[in-house]
Amino acid sequence: MKHLTYKEIRDKYIQFFKDNNHKEIPSSPLVPEDDPSVLFVNAGMLPLVPFLTGTTHPKGPRLVNSQRCLRTGDIDEVGDNFHCTTFEMLGNWSLNDYFKKEAITLTVKFFVEELGLDINKIYATVFEGEKGIPQDNESIGAWEEIFKSYDIDAKVGKGERIEPLNREENWWGLPTGGPCGPDSEIFYKLDNGELVEIGNNVFMEYLLEDGKYKPLGIHNVDFGGGLDRLTTVIQEVDSIFQTDIYKPILEKVKEISNNDILESQRIIVDHIKAATWIVMDGVIPSKSQQGYILRRLIRRAVRHGKKLNIGDIFTREIATIAIDQFKVIYPQLEDQKEYILNIIEKEEKAFNNTIKKGLKILEKMLKKKSQLTGEDAFTLYETYGFPIELTKEILKERKLKLTSPEDFDKAEVRHQEKSRTSSSGMFKGGLADSSEMSTHYHTATHLLLAALRQVLGEQVYQKGSNITPERLRLDYPNDNKLTPEQITKVENIVNEVIEKGLEISFEEVSKEKALELVPFAAFSEKYGDTVKLYYIGPKENPFSLEICNGPHVSNTNELGKFKISKQENVGAGTKRIKAILQ
Ligand code: SER
Repeated sequence: MKHLTYKEIRDKYIQFFKDNNHKEIPSSPLVPEDDPSVLFVNAGMLPLVPFLTGTTHPKGPRLVNSQRCLRTGDIDEVGDNFHCTTFEMLGNWSLNDYFKKEAITLTVKFFVEELGLDINKIYATVFEGEKGIPQDNESIGAWEEIFKSYDIDAKVGKGERIEPLNREENWWGLPTGGPCGPDSEIFYKLDNGELVEIGNNVFMEYLLEDGKYKPLGIHNVDFGGGLDRLTTVIQEVDSIFQTDIYKPILEKVKEISNNDILESQRIIVDHIKAATWIVMDGVIPSKSQQGYILRRLIRRAVRHGKKLNIGDIFTREIATIAIDQFKVIYPQLEDQKEYILNIIEKEEKAFNNTIKKGLKILEKMLKKKSQLTGEDAFTLYETYGFPIELTKEILKERKLKLTSPEDFDKAEVRHQEKSRTSSSGMFKGGLADSSEMSTHYHTATHLLLAALRQVLGEQVYQKGSNITPERLRLDYPNDNKLTPEQITKVENIVNEVIEKGLEISFEEVSKEKALELVPFAAFSEKYGDTVKLYYIGPKENPFSLEICNGPHVSNTNELGKFKISKQENVGAGTKRIKAILQ
C-alpha cells in the first residue's frame, strides 16, 4: 500500500475523476443553502439534489468533490475507532451519464490502482431486491467482471465476496424523500478481520414522493466515501484519530489531560474540530437549530475536559490546532481564526458557570433521594440552564437512569401553560397591558420587515400584517419559507437592533414624498394626503423607514427578545411569519 497523507488521498481522488472527464465543484457550506429540511449537510449529494432530479448542472453531467459533512445522529457514537461528527465525503456523480458498470469500475480502479489497496481484501454488497423492485443484477455482473479482470473468481451469496442484502443495508435516499435507489457498498478487510466500509455507489433510479417510489426517469450515480475512514485504512492505523487528520489534535489533548480516558480525549478532538467548522460556516451557539448543535458540541467537549481533569479553559488551545490542521483545505479557517476561537471560548466560559451552579443542585438532589426524575431534570434545565443530556450523562456515569423521563416533557408543557397564564395576569395587573404589547409588536414588525429585506432582498415588502397582544404576523412575497439559516440571520439582525437601543421617530410628509422615500410601501392607497414616516435609528441612515400610522415604542430596547415562532404558506408565492417577543 502507498503511504499517503490525507491531503494526498483527497487530491488523488479529485485528480483521478478529473482525468476521467469529471468537473470539480467546490464544497458547499455545512449549513444547507436551499434546503430547510435538514440542519446540516449530511452527505455530499445533498447540495446536488436539484441536479439529481433532472435540472442540468452548469458544469456538465460528471462531477467530483470532497464535501464537508456533519451527522448529528452520530454525536453520541463518537469515541470509538471510526465515528466522527464532521468529516469530508469524497463524492463523484453521474447525472444521467454513466451508470452501474462504469461507476463500479472507476471506484475499484481508484482504490486499487491509485491508492494501492489490495483487491483481495475488497468485498462488495448489493441490493437483494424486494416486492416490486428487482435484485440489482447489473451491479452483481459489474462486480463479477471487475474481480475477474484481477483473476478473482468472486462468488455471490450470503457471506461471499459479493453479498446481496436487504433495504436496510443497500438502499439509499434522504429520510425526507427525493432521489434514491439501490446502492453497492465497498468494504476493505483489515488485518484483524474487520470489514470497514470505504465507499458507496448509490444508483438513483427512483424518486420517493408522498411515501411512494416512482421511476426517476433518469439514472444517476452518487458515490460517497468517507475521507477519514479511507485515510485510516491507507495509513494502516486502528482508528481515525491516529490518522494525520486528527493525530496532532489528539496529541495536544493528551498533553493537557491529567488522565488517559481515551474516549473523552477523542470526543474533545472531534467536537472541537467540528465546532471550528460550524463557526466558520456562520453559526453561533444558541438555543435552537444549528446553534444548539454547536452549543451541545462545545459543552460536551468541555464536560469531557472535566473528566480528564484539564484545568479551567482549554478549548482555544485545541481549536487552534484544529484550525492549523485544516487551513490548507479551508483557508477561511485561518482568515476567521480569532473570531472562531473567541466564539468557542466564550461558550466554554458560559458553560463553566452553568455547570458550577447546576452540579451543586444536582448533587443535593441526589443526596436527598439517590435518584432523579424527569421532573428534577426539568427543574435543573429550567432554573439553572443545565441541559438534560448532561444530567443523563452524569447519571449514566454513576450507573443510574432518569426515572420517569417522560415527566420532563410534561413539566415543560405545564411550565409553558403557567407562563402564558401569568403573562395574561401581568397584562391585567398593569405591568404591561395589552395595548402596550401591541405597540411593541407594531415596532417589531418594522424590524422584521427590514431584516427580511436585508436577508432576502429588496423585492420583499409587507403584503399584510396582523397584530395581537401575543404575537405579530407578517405576510410577504417569497417562493420558499425561510431556511433555518435564514431564520437565525433574521432573528439575529432584529435582536441586534433591539440591543443597540435605536431611537424611533417620525415626521409627517406628503404622500408623494413618502412614496419616493419608501417605494416598497404597501397599502399606500389607504393613507391620506399627508402620512407619517417612521424612522428606526438615525434619520440620515435609518435601519428601517416605513410609512405607518403607528403606534410605536420610542426606543427599540423596550422590546425584549425577538423570535420567529411559525412559518406558513398563504397562497402562491406568499409566506407568513409569526413572531413573538420574549
Ligand atoms: N449519499 C450516499 C451516502 O451518504 C453516497 O454518497 O452514503
